Amino acid sequence: MLKIITHPNPILRKRSQNVADVLSDKIQKLIPEMMETMKAKEGVGLAAPQIGQNIRLFVVGYKDKNLVIINPKIIKKSLLKEWDEEGCLSIPNKYGQVKRHKSLTVKYLNEGGQEQTLKASGLLARVIQHETDHLDGILFIDKAKNLADILY
Ligand code: CO
Repeated sequence: MLKIITHPNPILRKRSQNVADVLSDKIQKLIPEMMETMKAKEGVGLAAPQIGQNIRLFVVGYKDKNLVIINPKIIKKSLLKEWDEEGCLSIPNKYGQVKRHKSLTVKYLNEGGQEQTLKASGLLARVIQHETDHLDGILFIDKAKNLADILY
C-alpha cells in the first residue's frame, strides 16, 4: 500500500504536471496501487499528489463507479452550486462544508490513454472538483466553512 502524505507537506501545494505517457510502466503500476490505497483507507477519491507524485492523475471509487482520471479538464460547470460536507485523507479527522458546482462535464484520459467525456452530478461531481483541486495545490480547508475536528 502507498503512504498517504498529509497537510502541511509542501507536495500538496504544488501544481502538478500533465501525464505525458499513460501507458508507461510507471503509470500503469501506480494506478492499481492508488486504487487499492483509496479502498483500504475508505476514501472516495485519491489524487497523485497525496501519494507524493505531482502528476495530474486521480482515482475515484464510489458505489459501482471506479474511475481513473488523467489530465482532466472541466469543460462545463453548472451555475448552481451546493454546500455539502467534505473530508480528505491528507487532512485526517477534519471536516467542513464546501460549496461546489452541482454538476459538470469533464474530459480526461482513462487508464488506457483514451479520451473520455463524463457528465457528473451530486457526489461524483463533488469528488471530481475536490480531486482536480488537489492537482492545482488546493485543499478543501482553503474553501471550507465550519471546519471541525472529529475526535474519536
Ligand atoms: Co483530498
